[in-house]
Amino acid sequence: MKIPFFRFDEMHGPLRADLVAAATRVIDSGYYILGPEVQAFEKAFATYCEVDHAVGVGNGLEALHLALRALGIGAGDEVIVPSNTYIATLLAVSYTGATPVLVEPRSDTANLNPEGLEAALTSRTRAIIPVHLYGQACEMVPIMAFADRHGLKVIEDNAQSQGATCAGRKTGSWGHLNATSFYPGKNIGALGDGGAVTIHDRDLAEQVRRWRNYGSAVKYYNEVQGYNSRLDEIQAALLAIKLQELDAWNRERQRLAAVYHRSLSGVGDLRLPKIAPGCSSVYHLFPIRSDQRDALQQYLLAGGVGTLIHYPVPPHLQKAYAGQGWRKGQFPIAEDHAKTLLSLPLFPGLREEEQAEVIRLIQSFFA
Ligand SMILES: Cc1ncc(COP(=O)(O)O)c(C=O)c1O
Repeated sequence: MKIPFFRFDEMHGPLRADLVAAATRVIDSGYYILGPEVQAFEKAFATYCEVDHAVGVGNGLEALHLALRALGIGAGDEVIVPSNTYIATLLAVSYTGATPVLVEPRSDTANLNPEGLEAALTSRTRAIIPVHLYGQACEMVPIMAFADRHGLKVIEDNAQSQGATCAGRKTGSWGHLNATSFYPGKNIGALGDGGAVTIHDRDLAEQVRRWRNYGSAVKYYNEVQGYNSRLDEIQAALLAIKLQELDAWNRERQRLAAVYHRSLSGVGDLRLPKIAPGCSSVYHLFPIRSDQRDALQQYLLAGGVGTLIHYPVPPHLQKAYAGQGWRKGQFPIAEDHAKTLLSLPLFPGLREEEQAEVIRLIQSFFA
């Protein structure tokens, strides 16, 4: 049996006629950029995230970057980010001229450890970017309390966790400005690139609208040297359809995760994802950890199962950041995760017999 790491068929199949009708409507409208589809989706997504404003942008990296720009963060500033995040979180900081400062995650949840924030604080610290990694909400209560105490801004990186909650409150609604990605494989993905910034404050929302559109609120009048980073009409129309399925898809992800938890706990040396008290996960991924990760991945591959590593090289050891002065061994939890972590197939539409086969192979590997 071939079991892919991810497949769109069961998500897009039942929606195909609606998706085609929406795309056709946009094609026929003759209106392709910043029109009624983007407006309608922004409204629906803001409601979903429990904020007043959502601003559609080109992708998740730009959502982070424009959020930082709207806060005026730039050269000379420091921004705290987790040491085990996807590189986009750091790139967004670097784009502004600010310096990313790394804080380790908790090993068991893989999310930013609030207890590590104090040691990273300097007179230059301006903001924290908690990343809700792999689908799980960060411990936002202590993170927000720390930020408030020190006058810092918070920008959630909600690329992987649309719909998760902490203390009953949605991710993407805690920070001053919050970024998400609609990369196709995300819990809600476009059929191409897309992203959004979710915001409570009206003025900050207006700032992001300017930054995404040449620094302009009124056509041909430019207040800042902005960017061109806009969500397309066609993607907004498709996302509006997929948004209606997001909660059901997330529930299915949680059900599949519960099956993995039940079947794999205590197997070999496996460490399964742990959920922090008061937090929920929408299981964008199901990352397990094992000291025999590479052999296990090969074994699963030979058995027809696709897996991925999120991520094989932590940001501080990436060539792109060689000039930053970070060294091997400096962020041992991030390095340990890069060596031991393996993401299993988990997506709405993964069939019972497919998941059973993944579990059977893992059990037989350790038997
Ligand atoms: C944690 C995280 N942040 C940011 C991004 C950037 O999103 P995008 O690929 O849409 O630029 C991604 C996804 O790729 C991500 O996983």
